Amino acid sequence: MADQPLADTIVLFGGTGDLAQKMLFPSLFFLDADGFLADGFRIIATARAELEADAFVAQVKEAVGARAGSSGLDAKVWDRFAKRLSYVGADATTPDGAKELRAAIGEGRTPIYYLALSPSIYGRVCKALAAADMAGPNTRIVLEKPIGRDLESSKLTNAEVAEVFPEESIFRIDHYLGKETVQNLLALRFANTLFEPLWNNLTIDHVQITVAETEGVGDRWPYYDEYGALRDMVQNHMLQLLCLVAMEPPADMEPDSVRNEKVKVLRSLRPVTRADVQTVSVRGQYTAGVAGGQSAAGYESERGQASDTETFVALRVDIDNWRWAGVPFFLRTGKRLPERRTQIAIQFKPVPHSIFDGAAKADMVANRLVIDLQPDEDIELLLMNKAPGLAQRGMRLQSLPLSLSLAKAYSGPNARRRIAYERLILDVIQNNSTLFVRRDEVERAWEWIDGVADAWRESGMAPKPYAAGSWGPAGAFALIERSDRAWYD
Ligand code: BG6
Repeated sequence: MADQPLADTIVLFGGTGDLAQKMLFPSLFFLDADGFLADGFRIIATARAELEADAFVAQVKEAVGARAGSSGLDAKVWDRFAKRLSYVGADATTPDGAKELRAAIGEGRTPIYYLALSPSIYGRVCKALAAADMAGPNTRIVLEKPIGRDLESSKLTNAEVAEVFPEESIFRIDHYLGKETVQNLLALRFANTLFEPLWNNLTIDHVQITVAETEGVGDRWPYYDEYGALRDMVQNHMLQLLCLVAMEPPADMEPDSVRNEKVKVLRSLRPVTRADVQTVSVRGQYTAGVAGGQSAAGYESERGQASDTETFVALRVDIDNWRWAGVPFFLRTGKRLPERRTQIAIQFKPVPHSIFDGAAKADMVANRLVIDLQPDEDIELLLMNKAPGLAQRGMRLQSLPLSLSLAKAYSGPNARRRIAYERLILDVIQNNSTLFVRRDEVERAWEWIDGVADAWRESGMAPKPYAAGSWGPAGAFALIERSDRAWYD
């Protein structure tokens, strides 16, 4: 890592697309504003369309301006940033297109190739880059998810890319790993002595991971209908969160130290089989309803025809290892849920024996650690506390949060909520792949997900309807209540 030069050029394939406009250009701009881009750093966007240089720069300015919002664009920073930009209209799947890019990059550079493209053409782009002799020892390639739709297709894509780039040059993005609070999970677990001794099945009762979105699928259905919530969210973001909660302490923050531990968790996930799929999983699909105070269409009417794609998944996941035996992880994610919330809740066990009796005994609530990732970044530890005042006899107890609100704790430049991609792009520039997903990790995750998808198919489990604006089908409540627990809504 340290002996690799910093990248000095980033080539954004799919440079006119949604991801580039909404996330990548704004992230690069903010990195520049904060002094993280070296003087000669260049940004080359490429797509098939022919685009005049001025029109391209105007497009980027609009995208960055939209993201900067009311704070606006600092004119000096924008001028510096605009000088870094250039655009090449080319078909990057052909050797001729790649050669045009090569000419635009010039000699002696250390480029990053960022593929914000349909994964189905990753292989062809890599071949074209190889044919144009553009895959040198210091070049890095960034791949967006989804890498494959199942284990087989993921292996194929990974193998095609591996023919051209060695694993240490491949950066597979999961943008959740760039989120501040996701990294904070590492700090919370491994920079405090407090939690680690308790972080196991002796003290923890269960874990809940919720990624709830209010948005529907809308015009993304051509992609979404082929993937569904299981492949779009669980295979990557949710399993990554689960891994960070469940992994053993890595020796250090080196890429392979962290990723080895995550892979061990993925290998310990209990496979879902046809025999238990109905008890450990729920599929749902939203129908018309009211979401965010407005009436919302159902998924099938957005899609324009019947579909058996799920827009909601709930799962009970068991990790078969010493630390987690008997501690279920409940996962749920869905579109058109009542609120946007990404949250990890660690539910501790009740005290082994209560010294309190009467009303105080009934007041007792087991401790819970709640990590909110979105929309707010907060950490709360729910602790039992004596309620102030006098009681006729004994005392009353109350559960109160010890809160760490990141918004309140930090002010100044570091308080700005960063786009997850800022951290990740900076890491690629510096050649640090700790927050990127290794090939075996992606493949192990697919292997487990394939088990769920196969069990659904074999048992004919169609998605159950739920009204837009509700917390998913009734089965999602039954799934967790079956073990005498409940979702924290
Ligand atoms: C993407 C999924 O990876 O993550 C989308 O494809 C989803 O369907 C999005 O909406 C959620 O990301 P975030 O950062 O808004 O929680």
